[in-house]
Amino acid sequence: MIRLSELARNLTAETAFTVLALARALKARGKDVVELEIGDSPFPTTPHAREAGIRAIEEGLTGYGPSLGLPGFREAAARIASEEFGYAATAENIVVASGAKPFEQYFAEALLDPGDGVLIFSPHFPTYIPNLQRRQARAVVVPLRVEDAFRPRAEDVRRFVETDPKPRAIFLNSPHNPTGGVATPADLAAIADVVRGTDVMVFSDEPYCHMVWSGKHASILAQPGMFENVVAAYTFSKSYSMSGWRIGFAVAHPEVVEAIGKLINTTASCSPPFVQWAAEAALRLDRPAREDYMGRFRAKVERLSEGLKRVEGLSVAMPAGTFYVFPDVRRICNALGITSHGLALYLLEGADDAFGVACLGGECFGEAGAGFLRFSCAEPDERIDQAVAFLPEALGRKDRVRRYLDANPAHVLREPYPVD
Ligand SMILES: Cc1ncc(COP(=O)(O)O)c(C=O)c1O
Repeated sequence: MIRLSELARNLTAETAFTVLALARALKARGKDVVELEIGDSPFPTTPHAREAGIRAIEEGLTGYGPSLGLPGFREAAARIASEEFGYAATAENIVVASGAKPFEQYFAEALLDPGDGVLIFSPHFPTYIPNLQRRQARAVVVPLRVEDAFRPRAEDVRRFVETDPKPRAIFLNSPHNPTGGVATPADLAAIADVVRGTDVMVFSDEPYCHMVWSGKHASILAQPGMFENVVAAYTFSKSYSMSGWRIGFAVAHPEVVEAIGKLINTTASCSPPFVQWAAEAALRLDRPAREDYMGRFRAKVERLSEGLKRVEGLSVAMPAGTFYVFPDVRRICNALGITSHGLALYLLEGADDAFGVACLGGECFGEAGAGFLRFSCAEPDERIDQAVAFLPEALGRKDRVRRYLDANPAHVLREPYPVD
């Protein structure tokens, strides 16, 4: 019999990929499914990145590269991120990896020891906690609040730093998945004031840095003195529609960069050089394409949130950033006696034999997300409209809800969600 490690036995994987697999299986059996579950782009990779990647393969850039990343790419990333986000990074502040997600692991391995306290604002990206578990660090989960438009409160950070027995790190994510909340420069300045001069490190997860729908993205790294306290992670997945290429970078103090380089050396070895070429071309040449895509995402988010506003019982605001819409469905769930995760699966599997909508229950992002649904905008406009039109019909089919709950009693809501 195989005996897995405690870590492997307890790992919780990202639910979006599980729902994606279910949606694809239903589609393979002939069901028409609108897929709003996964945070991926409906657009092709931006043009210069695509061409540069193909050219790099043709020119033979297919061997190993340095663990920290190609010097030219590190230099371009430092220059362009500094220009866009208002800090002063140089190539020695940059380390390259396969997306933003691997930096959760590298941050934990470079900076955390067993028992260290790590503040996580919740709902939260589902892989944060598994990456803390790799180092037996301790998650301290603090809820974000709908009445704050899901922005992090500096008082929560202060309380954590002042009262936790071993405060060591904070995970910040702005623009925020799944809620679409965006921290203001004032929020970030207040948080920076708490951590400055301490050894508390911030993992600033910034994959949606080009998806702020009013104003501009602000990074906590731009606050004075923050290179001592922050690791900021970026990805090409969302901005340049490159999720499958697996490429991103982090900006940090050179000592942290060197430590992460060693961790990469002992695991992935390096990121593929031809992918780095493609990403460098994206940075240098694809800004117009990126801006065009961001405009289209914004229009989709508006379309979806406007559509959802018309669904009775559901309460939703236009998100301040990201391509996710996060409606409050507590009243609907309470009336139907179904959990929000159950409601998401009912819309996909149970509400109709021929048609379904795939989305995620908020509890896929921690208990603080319960009572909400997360929709992404990764489908053409007419499909978004079809999904929105389907909701009132699906919610009205009380007999089908009852049948779904009888067949899936795990989704029965035992206690109504508190509603203010
Ligand atoms: C908050 C957050 N962090 C990290 C990631 C991972 O990004 P990537 O796939 O580029 O590694 C995502 C992707 O959806 C995300 O939403």
